[in-house]
Amino acid sequence: CGIVGYIGYREAYPIVIKGLKRLEYRGYDSAGVMLYDGEAIKLSKTKGKVSDLEAKAEKEISTNGTIGIGHTRWATHGVPNDVNSHPHVSNSGDLVIIHNGIIENYAPLKVELIKRGYTFTSDTDSEVLINLIEEVQKKEKLKLGKAVQVALNQVVGAYAIAVFDKKNPNEIVAARLGSPLAIGIGEGEYFIASDASPFIEYTSNAVYLEDGEMANIRLHRPMKVRKIKDDSIVDPYIQELQMNLEQIEKGGYDHFMLKEIYEQPSVIKDTYRGRLHANEGIVQMAGVEDNLEKFLNADRIIIVACGTSWHAGLVAEYVIEEFARIPVEVEYASEFRYRNPIINSKDVVIAISQSGETADTMAAIKLAKEHGAFVFGVCNVVGSSISRESHAGAYTHAGPEIGVASTKAFTTQITVLTMIALRLAQAKGTLSKSDFHMYLQELEFIPEKVKEALETNDKTKEIAAVFKDAPNCLYLGRGYNFPVALEGALKLKEISYIHAEGYPAAEMKHGPIALIDELMPVIVIAPKQGHYDKIVSNIQEIKSRSGKIIAVVTKGDTQVRELADYVIEIPETSDALSPLITTIPLQLLSYHIAVMRGCNVDQPRNLAKSVTVE
Ligand code: G6P
Repeated sequence: CGIVGYIGYREAYPIVIKGLKRLEYRGYDSAGVMLYDGEAIKLSKTKGKVSDLEAKAEKEISTNGTIGIGHTRWATHGVPNDVNSHPHVSNSGDLVIIHNGIIENYAPLKVELIKRGYTFTSDTDSEVLINLIEEVQKKEKLKLGKAVQVALNQVVGAYAIAVFDKKNPNEIVAARLGSPLAIGIGEGEYFIASDASPFIEYTSNAVYLEDGEMANIRLHRPMKVRKIKDDSIVDPYIQELQMNLEQIEKGGYDHFMLKEIYEQPSVIKDTYRGRLHANEGIVQMAGVEDNLEKFLNADRIIIVACGTSWHAGLVAEYVIEEFARIPVEVEYASEFRYRNPIINSKDVVIAISQSGETADTMAAIKLAKEHGAFVFGVCNVVGSSISRESHAGAYTHAGPEIGVASTKAFTTQITVLTMIALRLAQAKGTLSKSDFHMYLQELEFIPEKVKEALETNDKTKEIAAVFKDAPNCLYLGRGYNFPVALEGALKLKEISYIHAEGYPAAEMKHGPIALIDELMPVIVIAPKQGHYDKIVSNIQEIKSRSGKIIAVVTKGDTQVRELADYVIEIPETSDALSPLITTIPLQLLSYHIAVMRGCNVDQPRNLAKSVTVE
């Protein structure tokens, strides 16, 4: 979920609505807003997107007022409908909350509150929390801040909240545990949001609350930050924001996803800028240099991640083992954390996360730390929870990724992980000098080659038109391109809702081959380098069963062209770096199919970009 709040001298409504739109990547199944105009609390909420809320609110309430809070939801407790949408109001009608996260012990708390006469209109855990705060406030005659603190100490779970009290309307109380919360500080105004994007045009000063901290945000008073547990005062660190407005706007593209696909040549360059100097034979990242011994002494590297980041982890497994000869295991963070894994102090755990907020990945690294492992974070969002929780790390520098389906985050993750593999190989001497230099050179050529791969746009559009109504789709790849097959299938599923599966090409004969008939499109990643002959045989097997073959091949390929129904040509690169290129047409293909099917590309149904619940 995404939350936004404003308290100051401007009209709050436009700020909150625009802010919610920027946070819609965090969830978009329902939305709501509360405004206070000095007299009354005005509330409007609805199932649907922020644009639906806008339409409803402007009919339903007067939208004036200089205090406001808003919420865009990704449902956890209770289906997406008007009643379950936030903000939630306490029984007295005085207290209002927006909440991102989960209150795990909401059920016993609710029973207790019902016993005391409280009634509930929604199925949400958040409505329980606001009534708990009200109960504490009444019983102990506390001011809002204190009441929030006492209530939060009774709660188990994760939250980023903002609470307003009509009885003391010059204040908003915010708190976080496990879900992100940024506070923007302007002159005579404050902004509260799940990330800084809602307020970057108003102020570049922000405080990111740490886990377990809460803030009293009062008009014309300095903000007070304290620890929820023991009430100790914290001196908040005011950060200067790096983000700019252009980065979070579509810049002429129809969708954020397309913009982000096209940004890949430049962001991959940003990823290795200052870290890679091919001519001098240098590849280095501060986080790796400072901890080189830890990596070199590691018995093994365990990679934990979710979704697309997990696919980047699979590519990294192949690259690190090949280059640096260190055993690598790749785990779904959600499985790792709940299966009593064997970890020890000689393990290096690499956590990969675009957002740096994914709850499962966060929990996995906490577990790894408890066992004494060294944790290295590969995150995109600067200052995110995972980047802070890690002992060291390297940012991907992809810039804000807003499309829910991850694109540039994936290729920049692979870039960082490949650089790590090369640095370790250099230190261990596991690559020949000539190979090492060749790979550095090749990496420097990647942005140009990605640019060339983007020229497949028209071709992928043509192919998309042919297959847009397919009910199923198969993606096959071998070696370094097996994870790319998984990622290609995930992209198609996520944004077009076509059922798709990725498989190692040779494994096809052990099951998926049964699915192949003349209606089944099979996308085969078959670059010249790698296991070319083997994959040609796999293509023959599909062809003899009348499957429709769409092949991603190296420019100038003739052999596959004869067999395939459609070919997409990409520039040649070394096998180990090929995922950075082969991924591009697959991103474009799923994009065009989704657009042609009339799907909401940037905000596919049921998904959220940043999943801060388990
Ligand atoms: C969500 C997103 C995916 C993403 C995954 C992991 O499911 O929809 O696109 O790959 O979370 O996110 P992270 O921020 O940890 O990379």
